Amino acid sequence: MADHIFPTAPSVWLANCVLRPYRASDLEPLCAAAKDPAIARYMRDAFPSPYDRESGLGWLRICHVKGLPPAAEEEEIKPTPPASLGPSPDIKFAICLLDGTFVGGAGLRAMGADGTDRYSREIGYWIGKHFWGRGLATEVAAGLGRWALSSAGRQLTSDGQLLQRIEAGVYADNLASVKVLERAGYVREGVRRQAVVKNGAMHDVVIYGLIASDVENSDDI
Ligand SMILES: CC(C)(COP(=O)(O)OP(=O)(O)OC[C@H]1O[C@@H](n2cnc3c(N)ncnc32)[C@H](O)[C@@H]1OP(=O)(O)O)[C@@H](O)C(=O)NCCC(=O)NCCS
Repeated sequence: MADHIFPTAPSVWLANCVLRPYRASDLEPLCAAAKDPAIARYMRDAFPSPYDRESGLGWLRICHVKGLPPAAEEEEIKPTPPASLGPSPDIKFAICLLDGTFVGGAGLRAMGADGTDRYSREIGYWIGKHFWGRGLATEVAAGLGRWALSSAGRQLTSDGQLLQRIEAGVYADNLASVKVLERAGYVREGVRRQAVVKNGAMHDVVIYGLIASDVENSDDI
């Protein structure tokens, strides 16, 4: 694999795809894939729908991508995270095939507001519809979870400690994602009944968790 396709760190190399930081050239393929309402349907409302060029630019700005056109309005000032969460508790990756083709996004997000959950992260992922059914999301959920629970995850904690838990909350009718998480080794832990409203309808949210001992005791996916 040519080094220049993925020059920036950190990157997570998997069998069929790579997770790497977003870059300005992702704007077009990001918008093309994300504008399909089938993606937003099972995402939180923070994922825009409809998804236009400004949505993509806004996301790349959140990801601190350099070389973008200036924002039309003053950037929203984000609250400072508690000191116990460290400066960068979240991580956001573009998902690319090994030839560099952009296929989707994945990330880890800090949980809780007061630092008590500081060794846990919530995983999120989406794959452009054109690339569904190839096992990519399963590879990402398994690979990113294991990466985060390994020593690589120390960069996300303010005290350099290992992360202990990766959590996913999936709408109960998102059967593809339920399958992804179960195949990726996440353990079904319970249901937050009628927890979210999406497009005017209430949804149960199924909670899946992956903890350090799950990874130690399992074969690679
Ligand atoms: C969920 C999503 C990430 C899955 O991506 P993917 O790369 O297609 O996932 P995989 O190929 O690894 O596995 C999906 C599996 O679910 C299956 N599946 C798809 N739709 C299904 C359905 N309605 N019912 C049951 N299984 C279904 C697929 O056939 C596949 O299983 P298989 O390999 O045995 O055929 C993708 O559909 C997506 O981006 N959806 C919108 C965003 C989203 O839901 N994100 C997750 C939020 S928790």
